[in-house]
Amino acid sequence: MERTVHGSERLEATVIPPGDKSISHRAALLNAISDGQARVANFCVGDDRTSMLGCLRGLGVEISESVEEGIETFTIRGRGLDGLTEPSDYLYSGNSGTTMRLVSGLLAAQSFFSVITGDSSLRGRPMKRILTPLSMMGAQVMGRGGGSLAPLAFDGGDLHGIEYEMPVASAQLKSCILIAGLFAEGETSVIQPAESRDHTERMMASMGADVEQEGMRLTVRPPSRLASLDIQVPCDISGAAFWLVAGAAHPNARITVQGVGINPSRTGVLDVLREMGANIRMENVQEEGNEPSADLVVESSDLRGVEISGDIIPRVIDELPVLAVAASQATGQTIIRDAAELRVKESDRISATAVGLNALGAKIREIEDGMMIEGGSKLAGAEVESHGDHRIAMSMAVAGLIADGATTIGESEAADVSYPTFWGELDDART
Ligand code: S3P
Repeated sequence: MERTVHGSERLEATVIPPGDKSISHRAALLNAISDGQARVANFCVGDDRTSMLGCLRGLGVEISESVEEGIETFTIRGRGLDGLTEPSDYLYSGNSGTTMRLVSGLLAAQSFFSVITGDSSLRGRPMKRILTPLSMMGAQVMGRGGGSLAPLAFDGGDLHGIEYEMPVASAQLKSCILIAGLFAEGETSVIQPAESRDHTERMMASMGADVEQEGMRLTVRPPSRLASLDIQVPCDISGAAFWLVAGAAHPNARITVQGVGINPSRTGVLDVLREMGANIRMENVQEEGNEPSADLVVESSDLRGVEISGDIIPRVIDELPVLAVAASQATGQTIIRDAAELRVKESDRISATAVGLNALGAKIREIEDGMMIEGGSKLAGAEVESHGDHRIAMSMAVAGLIADGATTIGESEAADVSYPTFWGELDDART
């Protein structure tokens, strides 16, 4: 479905983005193998949540939904470490890479047969990165394309611990191995090339698992049980990022984003925007379930170009497309490097961002692992594509708010994957 966004004289809003997707997925999966019943409030919304909950239900996990004090809450009845059951059909991950890669860590350790697949985008994304370490741990697993693509088929496996040097700084890969490590004999260590989001290890530790971090090395030893964990999920900083960029890059804006998760392994977008000169204030800092959150207030700012490269990349990976919008409005050049992973996300996000924003008048040159962006462009409405990618759809919408005239975004429903209320909130912000 096409959707048209008009440039706006002023942006003013208080928004509450959906619950954090990464934390919600881990809360569902880890509580599913815990020994109790857990309540997860402010669970993420959108198609990706349907994917994760559907896979867990397919493994025999009972999950019910209620609204408690106006907050959507899921109750997950844990089946313990040995209680999952053989699915009677394939498990479906939809568009969600996190679901496929994390659930695969579980499936690899089960004594039954299972198949997991996803939509056409996910079936094109690299899975060898998880199959290699899972096979080293003793998993019996096969995949299309010689073990590099989904569908993936598992047929039980007595796992043993490994020490694994990760070739990419991927939280999904790290989490997959750590989850498999909960079931493996002996200890499992991963060595990360750079720090990526650490929700899995935080949550495992809160549930009583023996997880140790020493520099870039993480080690998990199989627990006898996991305790269930009630949690109120903070709002997703990756959803907040659209508002932060809209507020900072628009010449007449003030936006408050409430209850945003500010786990340091996720706040690269705040670091980059502040380095660009963005006027962002943090209020009401809180902590719940080992995850900090705060309200963020952003106002129109004079932005300047920066270099985004190296170790910060995994902490800002999902926000790079919308940061490119900010860079197009900054003074001077912005360089994004070391971000080749963007090419294997829900779409090739380097190409999708550059082609889309250039159609609006930005000056972006693709490089193999990033983008060179000349700032100071006056954007003008045009027709752009989301490539079926939620983050591209919403990044183009933010560009449309800053552009003169009308910007039409193809396949705009892609935003439903993580942020179904985005378009309504966008309309409300235009005053
Ligand atoms: C995620 C990790 C990142 C991120 C994705 C969510 C997670 O992917 O891009 O949106 O929840 O672990 P990679 O692990 O592939 O970098």
